[in-house]
Amino acid sequence: MEKIKIAIQKSGRLNDDSVDLLKQCGMSFSAMGNKLIATVSNFPMEILFLRDDDIPQYVQDGVADIGILGENVLIETEKQVEISERLGFGKCRLSIAVPRGIEFTGVKFLEGKKIATSYPKLLTQYLTKHSVKATIEEISGSVEIAPSIGLADAVCDIVSSGSTLLTNGLKEVEKIFDSEAVLIKGQNLSAAKLETLEKLLFRIRAVNTAKKCKYVLLNIPTNKIDEVKTILPGMKSPTILPLAMPGWSSLHSVISEDDFWSVIDQLKSIGAQGILIVPIEKMVI
Ligand code: PRP
Ligand code: ZN
Repeated sequence: MEKIKIAIQKSGRLNDDSVDLLKQCGMSFSAMGNKLIATVSNFPMEILFLRDDDIPQYVQDGVADIGILGENVLIETEKQVEISERLGFGKCRLSIAVPRGIEFTGVKFLEGKKIATSYPKLLTQYLTKHSVKATIEEISGSVEIAPSIGLADAVCDIVSSGSTLLTNGLKEVEKIFDSEAVLIKGQNLSAAKLETLEKLLFRIRAVNTAKKCKYVLLNIPTNKIDEVKTILPGMKSPTILPLAMPGWSSLHSVISEDDFWSVIDQLKSIGAQGILIVPIEKMVI
């Protein structure tokens, strides 16, 4: 396996989750202080800590082989790289926001207005689609203060929790784009590097699949087992073990996070007891 270089965000919204994901994949490294490069001691990988906006360029140019960044940044920069995996964290949206006191009457409100943004391409596409002519004020940071200093009438920026808008007296009025963290790769990786990437992706998928599922252990009257099987139809056959108490069995299975509560309610209603729910660390299917 050849060593690959992965670029992740140095600081900002995605940094912690990117580091956590790599650690959950078993990578041993220290991401301390102001270091820009970390070597993974137990996997052929080097980690570069970069500004997220620069990651697509570095991956396109082969300075890094792969990278983790927000899809919003990827689409805006229009570089020649490919998405290998959607990662499910860093969910946010690119939205238009206006000062809270403004009565927003719809997208036509933006006609002739000034909009501050770090995402001129995505914003232009959106305005063109709605046949709105507005002036785009491109700024690279602290977009949210533009209306209060008189630089713009509206902003087009990333909203995650919404607290940045709130503290700057703005309200979200139109969503342009949904985003999450993605893993990208360059277009000219060698076969040996692709092999290393596959190993990494295998681990990422095991970690992310496990996050969507819970392990369930419960006790159930043995004569109810057929009913349990209809409540858990999607699962491969659950494990059933007899309990010391006659007429009762212990059942082990995996439930998806999505229908977790409704399944638990149904299991309770047919007499399940002693239900234990355990998080799963890795899941290989
Ligand atoms: C975005 C945006 C806000 C913040 C919004 O920045 O510019 O500053 O996130 O998050 P909130 O709704 O939870 O308050 P981003 O993380 O994309 O950082 P960057 O533009 O500095 O890279
Ligand atoms: Zn950025």
